[in-house]
Amino acid sequence: MDAHLLEFLGMLVRWLHVIAGIAWIGSSFYFIWLDNSLDPPPTGSDAARKGVAGELWAVHGGGFYNPQKYAVAPAALPDKLHWFKWEAYATWMSGTALLVLVYWLHAQTMMVDPTIAVLTTWQAVGIGAASMVGSWIVYDGLCRSPLGKNDPLLGVVVFGLMTLLAWELGRTLGGRAAFIHIGASIGTIMVANVAMVIIPGQRKMVEAMRAGRLPDPIYGQRGKQRSVHNNYFVLPVLFIMISNHYASTYSHKQAWAVLALFSAAAVSIRHFFNRRHKGVLEWRYPAIGAVLLGIVAWWTTPHLAPLPKVNGPVTFDQVRAIIGQRCVTCHSPSPTFTGIAQPPAGVLLYTPDAIMLNAQRLYQQVVVTRIMPLGNVTQITDYERAVIAAWVADGAKIK
Ligand code: HEC
Repeated sequence: MDAHLLEFLGMLVRWLHVIAGIAWIGSSFYFIWLDNSLDPPPTGSDAARKGVAGELWAVHGGGFYNPQKYAVAPAALPDKLHWFKWEAYATWMSGTALLVLVYWLHAQTMMVDPTIAVLTTWQAVGIGAASMVGSWIVYDGLCRSPLGKNDPLLGVVVFGLMTLLAWELGRTLGGRAAFIHIGASIGTIMVANVAMVIIPGQRKMVEAMRAGRLPDPIYGQRGKQRSVHNNYFVLPVLFIMISNHYASTYSHKQAWAVLALFSAAAVSIRHFFNRRHKGVLEWRYPAIGAVLLGIVAWWTTPHLAPLPKVNGPVTFDQVRAIIGQRCVTCHSPSPTFTGIAQPPAGVLLYTPDAIMLNAQRLYQQVVVTRIMPLGNVTQITDYERAVIAAWVADGAKIK
């Protein structure tokens, strides 16, 4: 497909993914907040007699709301019942489409890092897909096993297994692809919780009631458990989604441990909010989160080998030659590098002015973080990085 069309399609799918994700997570956060904030109605009140287990009052958008939660189910089902599922399905479908467009279709550049493992396209894609499906099978099995009765322990085991997966992916795929596939695996668990447990359970409850039977409370309990799990998964997944802009995280030597620490911080912070909705203010949870994030910040500081010394003064022509050879295949008005349709990040490096204009940014990318050239596909040498460093230190002049 035409590279521009493919990129445009990717943008549309990303847009949809973010919108659907906001709708899903928004409603999910809302219901968790709602559930945690309910107060039992006064004994003897109308609501208590109707079987309401908890209710609250809220004001929003100029109106007053009074949601009520029934312990198992109301005496009679209303004709119109709202379900929440398409937000979740749309998020997963658009996310998977994005994964295919951005990663699977460009597996050799986006997923395979030959310094980690040499893989064929099918191996890379197979590993990615298997982690998504496998994660769900293992997680679901654990939830249904006796371990599923002990939520804190289950949480620790699931956390440990996801960390193990991150470690394994870190030894097989490129750092960025490893992270995004952990995110896709957690996302798959989350949406399968909705599609395979929560929604079918709710259907059974509704069927029972329509048949005039009292629904089995087990469906409500199971649904609730999975919904709470999803709530704790959200923050780590969102971190993973943005992490691909931050190479210090995914390209770290122990990226799996960075991810584990960050996720532990995220879960702790989420826990604080869940407790707070219940009226309990426990500052130790955000404090734990802050300490863990502090450790991550310190631990991800790049420690790159010092660059070689440059012989003699550096001329602009030297710099221009290096950039011409190592960067312009991607950073020109019409890139020649396969899969890149537009100059990435809008950075153009094909005229002296453009190079000078971008001096600070390219210094950051080539000397400080050494992320560019991307995956070092154009094989820049450390000496060339040193030349660029010397040129910027000397005022980045066009001499
Ligand atoms: C294989 C293609 C490719 C090559 C070669 C390449 N880049 Fe990039 N560059 C990218 C992509 C893709 C991005 C966007 C990264 C992102 O969005 O996270 C980027 C982003 C950048 C940015 C912007 C980063 C920011 O956020 O400020 C700079 C600056 C940059 N590259 C400089 C260079 C320099 C200098 C070279 C040569 C030494 C180079 N690039 C070689 C693909 C490439």
